[in-house]
Amino acid sequence: MVKNILILNGSPKKNGNTSTLVEWFVQGASLNGGKVEIIRTALLKSKSNGCISCRRCQKLKEYECVINDDVKEVLKKMAKADVIVFATPLYFYGPSTQLKLIIDRMFSLYKWDNSTDTFESPMRGKTMVLLLSAYENIGLDIVKKSFALIAGYSEMKFKSLLVPDAGESGEILKLKGIREKAIALGKKI
Ligand SMILES: Cc1cc2nc3c(=O)[nH]c(=O)nc-3n(C[C@H](O)[C@H](O)[C@H](O)COP(=O)(O)O)c2cc1C
Repeated sequence: MVKNILILNGSPKKNGNTSTLVEWFVQGASLNGGKVEIIRTALLKSKSNGCISCRRCQKLKEYECVINDDVKEVLKKMAKADVIVFATPLYFYGPSTQLKLIIDRMFSLYKWDNSTDTFESPMRGKTMVLLLSAYENIGLDIVKKSFALIAGYSEMKFKSLLVPDAGESGEILKLKGIREKAIALGKKI
């Protein structure tokens, strides 16, 4: 079965370390016929709209966000994809803002029933991948843990590739073995 892979690249750098990681991952995924779409979340319009916790999504039949901006369409694509790849540089020991705002808007992809402490979600059963690059080697495990928790909560499979010591944008190319690892992960997914 051909997999639909949606890549959300949260780096503001078009040719930076994260974009290079994404490129390598896509090379691998393409080897096995994966259908890939890449969205650079830093380029979305109305990008300042984080989740406003209005909870109106919980009253809708559809898994949709009521905020009418570009993220709304991204969320629809997330609901349909088989694999969701979150790619981000490490920013102050967390994902970039440009990616985090998408994650918070994922609230609309769950319907919670507090009376039974259960939820329904199209996220269930999908695969989540985290691609993370950082200048040094501190705190990447914290970000991995937080994404693994989201995946676990959502009953998604989880894979990650963490790249410490990637240096400044563009310097990931100097690291040995990362290209091969990223291609292998894409191929496996
Ligand atoms: C705002 C900002 C915050 C950063 N915070 C960290 C950090 O906490 N730890 C770290 O190792 N690198 C940090 N970096 C460096 C980037 O994570 C690293 O260079 C990354 O590989 C850049 O990816 P990019 O080329 O896709 O932007 C930061 C960079 C910026 C611009």
